[in-house]
Amino acid sequence: MKRYLTFLAVAVLAMISFLGFQGKTSKDTPVYVFDDMDVQSKYKPQGENAFFADGRDARPPVAGTVARGNALEPLKVFSADYRRLESLNPSFVTGKDAKGAFLATFPAKSMNLLPNGEFKPYVVDAQTLELGQAKFEIYCKICHGAAADGNGVMKVRSAVEGDAAILTIANLQAPNYRAYPQGQIFDVITNGKNTMQSYGDKLSPEERWAVVAYLRALQLSQSCPAELVPASVKAELK
Ligand code: HEC
Repeated sequence: MKRYLTFLAVAVLAMISFLGFQGKTSKDTPVYVFDDMDVQSKYKPQGENAFFADGRDARPPVAGTVARGNALEPLKVFSADYRRLESLNPSFVTGKDAKGAFLATFPAKSMNLLPNGEFKPYVVDAQTLELGQAKFEIYCKICHGAAADGNGVMKVRSAVEGDAAILTIANLQAPNYRAYPQGQIFDVITNGKNTMQSYGDKLSPEERWAVVAYLRALQLSQSCPAELVPASVKAELK
């Protein structure tokens, strides 16, 4: 019996010294009886992988395919200058001047830099109008109509289905909207208005200004002052 107790004491001590007390921390490699998924076979970023010829875990996109996504330009977005540019040229992203009033005209400066580090002037040219047309047709036409007269397919449909909310779609050819400063239209696109949702998360500031420019072109197309009509067109009208 005495020998048995001694043996038991030694066995218990040996076990404690081998396994340690519960909660004890150690820097030694643990002895695993059950590994509880501490050790898994998995691919790690930048890891090695003998399966592939180039020996890398991380796989490049398949040749000849195009990544689908939000078309962000990561180099631009993550550059140190990106937000700084916004803070140096705030009118371009808010549509307001330094005093908080809506810009009456288009912003003087774009968000693109010249080689000397100054902002390029903002110009409304054919390229701007083309961009504006493309975005207007994707995002606005469905409600405001191709001529911005408020008769998009949503209005026609809601009249049939009796959805009163959508019947309020604004006729952007109306004199009060023609009189809006450019910055106020930009603001409506950025933040929405009453029952119209905002498009600030879908259109970049460049695209929003382009939509404003295209909307102005549509307004002009529906009420063009005689002196702006080219002589060749006038001749055809007679
Ligand atoms: C889903 C329908 C819908 C779409 C799409 C839509 N709008 Fe509107 N929009 C409305 C409605 C409805 C109103 C009227 C809101 C109200 O009750 O004042 C409105 C009002 C406006 C106004 C006048 C706001 C004011 O101050 O009274 C402008 C300008 C405008 N929209 C521009 C746009 C532009 C530009 C786009 C595309 C980027 C666009 N909308 C897309 C439904 C839409």
